Amino acid sequence: MSLLIRGAHQVATPTGSGARRGPELAALTVYPDAVVLCKNGRIAFVGEEAEQRNRFGEPDEILETDGGCVLPGFVDPHTHPVWAGSREDEFDRRLRGETYMDIARSGGGINSTVRATRAASSEELLAATLKRLDRFLEYGTTTIEAKSGYGLDLETELRMLEVIRDANSVHPIDLHPTCLAAHEIPPEYRDDREAWVKRLVDEIHPEIARSGLAEAVDVFCEEGVFDLQQTRRLLADANSFGWRIHLHADELTPLGGAELAVEFDALSADHLMCITPKGIAALARSETVSVLLPGTSFFLRSAWAPARALVDANCVVALATDCNPGSSPTESMPMILALATLGMGLGVAEAVAASTLNAAAAIGRADEIGSIEVGKSADLIILDAPTYQHLVYHFGLNPVRHVIKGGRVVVRDGLLTAEE
Ligand code: NIG
Ligand code: FE
Repeated sequence: MSLLIRGAHQVATPTGSGARRGPELAALTVYPDAVVLCKNGRIAFVGEEAEQRNRFGEPDEILETDGGCVLPGFVDPHTHPVWAGSREDEFDRRLRGETYMDIARSGGGINSTVRATRAASSEELLAATLKRLDRFLEYGTTTIEAKSGYGLDLETELRMLEVIRDANSVHPIDLHPTCLAAHEIPPEYRDDREAWVKRLVDEIHPEIARSGLAEAVDVFCEEGVFDLQQTRRLLADANSFGWRIHLHADELTPLGGAELAVEFDALSADHLMCITPKGIAALARSETVSVLLPGTSFFLRSAWAPARALVDANCVVALATDCNPGSSPTESMPMILALATLGMGLGVAEAVAASTLNAAAAIGRADEIGSIEVGKSADLIILDAPTYQHLVYHFGLNPVRHVIKGGRVVVRDGLLTAEE
């Protein structure tokens, strides 16, 4: 099965099978008037149409792009896509002056979503998740990392990870599951937090590892949630479970989560709004990806992560939505790119590389996805605009016209295709 994408004004992509750092982050390869040939789910050719004809002949299918821009599909390396209920009431309270942590301490926050998620059936959770995945896809995201973390008991954490497994098997988006049972202290342990850490270490993490439902583990390392010492205990077994590590680090307070992530050779240290110069220096010397979540800063009206300083210090920087009902209820990577450029000071080319190739590195898949190169999975988006800058220049709208996943058209003219 082959698909030829033709008539593009430009094909723009970062290149390589590993993350890009420093000045290299801005170095996109731009092919003018190029075609892309997908064959058996992979990219077989990028370049001039005449050469493609000579070498490969007639394709099975042609997608005309009418002067659009072809980019790699977005990879979203930090999402919490499985939940029930919503928290617009808390959003309103924050607009009137309460803080995210005030609300969490009063029984709201993550624990209010935990109550709704525990009460929901697996079928309801799957239906809600699939709806969100459709929106991710319509806005150009073809792969996500997906965390549990609204169960905070063994049964519901396992059910969330089963929903992620089931969604992965029926939806075009690839989901990479992460166990985030250490997302918060559940209400039943409020007065004995150490007992909750012990339960996670002794029972919940080992059971989830045995289930084979998670590839990675994450901890919300934060003042009032899990401190550095508790986080260390929670991560100590990860290697023996075959888990890679993501870490919610230095989000609301400068605890030193970034340094801890590096110490554990984590795939990623995420948020980093309060990272210190020491944390930046540690990340710069490591392979750990700094996953920045400007949607959270925007929605919580808090500081931006120091994106410019991180890139200039040679850290590997990636972008993600943090899609969740409390601090960033969006599936839109184009919105995240707008915030990363206009809010955090990245250039558009940097934001493109950070949301494709470097985002793939943050989930350990930069050799397979994240760029338009021969041999990589044919995960592509086509903008209804001639150049990649339009991704953020024409802000507030969805610029994505077509989406290709594994060589198949999954969004055509803005609409999800059922099996065509
Ligand atoms: O990444 N920081 C912890 N977790 C989420 C928020 C989850 C929620 O509020 O429901 C975050 O911001
Ligand atoms: Fe998060």
